[in-house]
Amino acid sequence: MLLGFNGSPKPDSNLRRIINMMLKESGKDYRIYDLAQMNIKPCVGCVKCAKSNRCVMEDDMFPLYDEIVESEAIVVGAVVYFRKANGFTHNFLERLFPLRHRNPQTMGKPAVSVAVGGNEAEIVSDEISYHLNSYFNFEIVDKLFYNTMTPPCFICGFGTTCQYGGPARWMSPEEFNNFNKVTPEMFQKFETDNKRVKRVKEIGRRLGSI
Ligand SMILES: Cc1cc2nc3c(=O)[nH]c(=O)nc-3n(C[C@H](O)[C@H](O)[C@H](O)COP(=O)(O)O)c2cc1C
Repeated sequence: MLLGFNGSPKPDSNLRRIINMMLKESGKDYRIYDLAQMNIKPCVGCVKCAKSNRCVMEDDMFPLYDEIVESEAIVVGAVVYFRKANGFTHNFLERLFPLRHRNPQTMGKPAVSVAVGGNEAEIVSDEISYHLNSYFNFEIVDKLFYNTMTPPCFICGFGTTCQYGGPARWMSPEEFNNFNKVTPEMFQKFETDNKRVKRVKEIGRRLGSI
């Protein structure tokens, strides 16, 4: 069984579709957890998990420990908020702590990191891989990122006029002056990027051969 952890709070996001395509391409059984739909609190640092390799907080993270330990591989995906993995993903990454103590339970387990961002997704994909490998000894199969070039300002309703948002900062004064409409083409989909699709499927097939 392969497990995907999707940190995007949006339904049918690029991130979720990437994770789904990757896992489907593996040909193996898989399950995707939508972290934003779950009750996963941040780690409270009590370190009681050192004794049992399990967390004392019995929220929706609790059953995932056994599933992760028993899985063949995991895929962890975040969307980029403020140059970091977003909060839903971050809580999940923190709460892996019980699997780290004394008898690390994820030693050598294959993992893939995925990040979708406006323009800084690579940094976050690297960050997730670092977290999984350096603190939990997962073996990183690959790291994937996709930049949508879509700032939140494209959906806030004020993006074409706000002087402080992304468009005002990225565009030249002339471009910003002519920017008076947010059009559907400004919301990029990874499926239109053939190279990216090829990479997603290729990583999926590698997961399938594990
Ligand atoms: C609160 C917030 C903060 C963001 N900060 C960043 C950022 O620092 N760097 C970046 O590359 N993208 C940033 N973004 C853009 C998102 O990562 C981008 O819109 C991405 O497409 C999110 O995926 P989604 O469209 O599937 O939600 C931010 C978006 C939001 C809502």
